[in-house]
Amino acid sequence: MAELEDLEFGKSDFVLLDEVTMEQFMDNLKLRFEKGRIYTFIGEVVVSVNPYREMDIYGRNAIDAYRGRELYENPPHLYAVADAAYKAMKRRAKDTCIVISGESGAGKTEASKYIMQYIAAITNPNQRAEVESVKNVLLKSNCVLEAFGNAKTNRNDNSSRFGKYMDINFNFNGDTTGGHINNYLLEKSRVIHQQEGERNFHSFYQLLRGGSDEILESFHLQNDPAVYVYTKEGVETTASSNDRSSHEAVMSALKVIGFSEAEIDSIYRILATILLLGNIQFECDGESVQVVGLEAVNHIAELTTTEPDTVSKSLLYRTVATGGGEIIEKGHTQQEACSGRDAFAKALYERLFAWIVGRINTVIEVKDYNPLLDGKNTVIGVLDIYGFEIFDNNSFEQFCINYCNEKLQQLFIELILCQEQSEYQREGITWQHIDYFNNQIIVDLVEQPHKGIISILDEACLGVGNVTDTVCLESMNDKLAQHPHYTSNKLSPTDKTMEFQKHFRVRHYAGDVTYSVEGFLDKNKDLLFQDFKRLMYNSANLVLKEMWPDGQLGITEVTKRPLTAGTLFKNSIVALVGKLACKEPYYVRCVKPNEKKSPVLFDDARGQHQVAYLGLLENVRVRRAGFAYRQLYARFLQRYKMTCEYTWPNHLMDTDREAVEAIVTQHGFQDDVAYGHTKLFVRTPRSLFSLEQERSALIPILVLFIQKVWRGALARRRCRRMRAIYTIMGCYKRYKVKAHFWEVESRFANVRTMADYGKSVEWPSPPAALAQFHNNTVMLHRRWWARQIVKNIPPSDMAEVRAKVAAMGALAGERKDWGVGRAWERDYLSNARDCPQTSHNFIRASKDLRNKDQYSQVLFSGFCRKVNCGLVFNKTTDRVLLLTDKNIYELGPKKQYKVLKRLPLDVLTGLSVTSGADQMVALHTTSQDDVVLCLQRGELCPNRDRLGELVGTLVDHFTRVRKVLLPVKVCSPVVQVHMRGKPKTVAVETKAGQTNVDFKKSRDGFVLLLPSN
Ligand SMILES: Nc1ncnc2c1ncn2[C@@H]1O[C@H](COP(=O)(O)OP(=O)(O)OP(=O)(O)O)[C@@H](O)[C@H]1O
Ligand SMILES: [Mg+2]
Repeated sequence: MAELEDLEFGKSDFVLLDEVTMEQFMDNLKLRFEKGRIYTFIGEVVVSVNPYREMDIYGRNAIDAYRGRELYENPPHLYAVADAAYKAMKRRAKDTCIVISGESGAGKTEASKYIMQYIAAITNPNQRAEVESVKNVLLKSNCVLEAFGNAKTNRNDNSSRFGKYMDINFNFNGDTTGGHINNYLLEKSRVIHQQEGERNFHSFYQLLRGGSDEILESFHLQNDPAVYVYTKEGVETTASSNDRSSHEAVMSALKVIGFSEAEIDSIYRILATILLLGNIQFECDGESVQVVGLEAVNHIAELTTTEPDTVSKSLLYRTVATGGGEIIEKGHTQQEACSGRDAFAKALYERLFAWIVGRINTVIEVKDYNPLLDGKNTVIGVLDIYGFEIFDNNSFEQFCINYCNEKLQQLFIELILCQEQSEYQREGITWQHIDYFNNQIIVDLVEQPHKGIISILDEACLGVGNVTDTVCLESMNDKLAQHPHYTSNKLSPTDKTMEFQKHFRVRHYAGDVTYSVEGFLDKNKDLLFQDFKRLMYNSANLVLKEMWPDGQLGITEVTKRPLTAGTLFKNSIVALVGKLACKEPYYVRCVKPNEKKSPVLFDDARGQHQVAYLGLLENVRVRRAGFAYRQLYARFLQRYKMTCEYTWPNHLMDTDREAVEAIVTQHGFQDDVAYGHTKLFVRTPRSLFSLEQERSALIPILVLFIQKVWRGALARRRCRRMRAIYTIMGCYKRYKVKAHFWEVESRFANVRTMADYGKSVEWPSPPAALAQFHNNTVMLHRRWWARQIVKNIPPSDMAEVRAKVAAMGALAGERKDWGVGRAWERDYLSNARDCPQTSHNFIRASKDLRNKDQYSQVLFSGFCRKVNCGLVFNKTTDRVLLLTDKNIYELGPKKQYKVLKRLPLDVLTGLSVTSGADQMVALHTTSQDDVVLCLQRGELCPNRDRLGELVGTLVDHFTRVRKVLLPVKVCSPVVQVHMRGKPKTVAVETKAGQTNVDFKKSRDGFVLLLPSN
């Protein structure tokens, strides 16, 4: 918590006074002023005393100290109110306004600038360019408006001579998106006349002292304000260098805001025109009135881009339409010409000022506002309007200004005193009523229809004949004689402070003000000859033309009588109050410590007067008795229910009020609250702050909780969806499986009766899950199918089938031609069809051999060409190969079939064949003396393979009978063998011109030569 001020500086909040009396109030205010503490709170209201010196309390450090803090955390400051208004606007999306009031020179405009600076400093942390440019224009607009709307008065060197209400618009982020300026009642009479020691608006002096020689020359001006009637008063007052530097600042501000060169030029041309107009004199030349020296007229025509003739005509005549529609020109009297000229000068300036404000508004108005993107368009209004004025001579302007202050006081009473007290009553809170003066009666005195002063003035203006100010005063005296706040010399003849037929007095809430009625009617009528309006409208300068749209009306066009200045002002102030009333108000009440602009003087009487009319004491009393915060039970509960176990997430009590009581009790500030019928009232903001703190500490936890619940809900939903998906997928898969079964079933239902046992039936492609199953069923079907085929084979054919199966397995598809399509006869040499001439001999020889060697079966017999590997030489010879279940025989091919070699079948370790169509086979033996031969074919199927039969029969025999595997090697292109223990190769070659298949010796062994055809 920020450091609070020491008591030596007085009490930082008037609410803390021991007794609420004027003495104590003033003592505290004075003490604080003397100690350099210019700000003091009354609750949320800031009382500010003009220090009349530079204070080091507005820098970056101060801004950081106040940003986002609660009001009572820091010493009183403008920044604290600005931040409170900003927070209310941002947190609760509430439109707020800061009403700055006080008399001239009390420091309103300075306060409004500090407030705007603060808001500019704390917004747009992301430095977005468009927001920065809006902020820049808002800040720069002050400089321009002060140049054209401020003047030096006897009370204030930089007195605002117009009322200003500025709306600043924000998006949901709290960044400025635009703004709007309303100006009220510019004191235009200052253009033509100033009181002694005062000056015209700064802009004139800035142009004359700051404008370059060329510019001044082109405008036909001299750089000396003393030369011009409108500026010669108060020439001595301010240092000229000030005006010069201000002129530069204004020029650059105009450019930054977006005024074009042509517009800036037009603005200064109008100022020059006004200055030249002021110097125009008229002389009476017998019957008619003339302008003295036509040069000025020519210059005015040049500056306004009009015709000199029309200019002088407008100055000297007025065009009027008679009842019959005839148009006549009526010459002015010298007096009329002078007042016409002055009225023209005032109107020129007033319209120029209004145009500048309008032009700034077009630049800063909220553009491209999108409620969806930007959220609620919230507003902070800043009102800096003239304070209550009592001069020696008070005229129509003071009357209007004081009426405005009455209205604002009424609003203050309404919001701070009246509404507050009636709410306590309504809610049944024990409350001691605080008396205050309700100024509604004075407001009515001024603005009531038919009876109010403005109405009486308007009536007088409408009246035909010579209605003078005194006639009007008479009328007021008649109608308002009974009013307690109105008096005049006629009504109280003993009062010598008022002159008869000149003065009337209004007892304002801030004090009595005596007004001089002189000039009231003219100022209220605010007449300007139509000729001037037409003159300006017809200017070739478009900027000027734009300022005078009403100049386009024709002379004979009947126009409604324009509203009077008084009524226009009243309407604008009623609208302003309407605007303020719908916003949450924050107040800065400015007090002027002395008339001498001294930083050390504190004038008690002046101070007391201001404190009294600003109603500050009543404010303290209501505040002390009152409650800082109130809220409907339901809303309070909604906001803070998470801070109490009995109310979170929902309470079980009978009413929201009881639940709110539970929260209050839990936090232990039951003594700081009161329970109304519908609302809870909290006396000090501190209690609320502790609740707020707890709430903000809990919010992240709640956010996490909500995130958790929501994430859980999302996950459960996702899970349910996934489950549903899996269920659907499961059903679909089951369906696909079943469908596959059904399909297989239907396709294979009749395979038993089919000729091919279903071999030609195409298998349906299985779903992925059934891939293995599919392979198994295909295999099953194949086996079953094979079984059906094998079942029908006669036992006599079985040996052949087995041999073929064995050959197929052994050759493993590596040898293309292996004689499978042929009937395998095995014992070809005994077969009469194969060897018709020799079979009977062989039958006999083999019979002898069988008897002798006791073999039971011939596995294979046939002629062959065999490699004989001798000790000395190698040769090939024709031989007979006989394979039995016992031995391998090499027989002589001649009739006797003499046994040349006998090898027991056991020595056979494997076979090698080639992958070609040749009939060569190597019988590998354990003794590494392999038998290499090439089968020769007989008569039966002469050109077909017999080698497959030899291989199949041997492998089958070894597998089934001997229960050992006989390895078969299919080689290409050479077969590796051993002869007499040495490794040799046997290659196969086709040779042209070779008639018989035969072996030939080669380098590494042998080559089997095949005939080429
Ligand atoms: N906070 C401040 N710090 C320093 N000087 C200040 C401060 N407030 C006001 N002043 C001085 O007082 C002068 C008058 O203040 P300011 O122009 O704000 O008065 P005002 O209330 O706007 O008067 P008016 O009603 O005439 O416009 C300023 O020019 C400045 O010199
Ligand atoms: Mg001001």
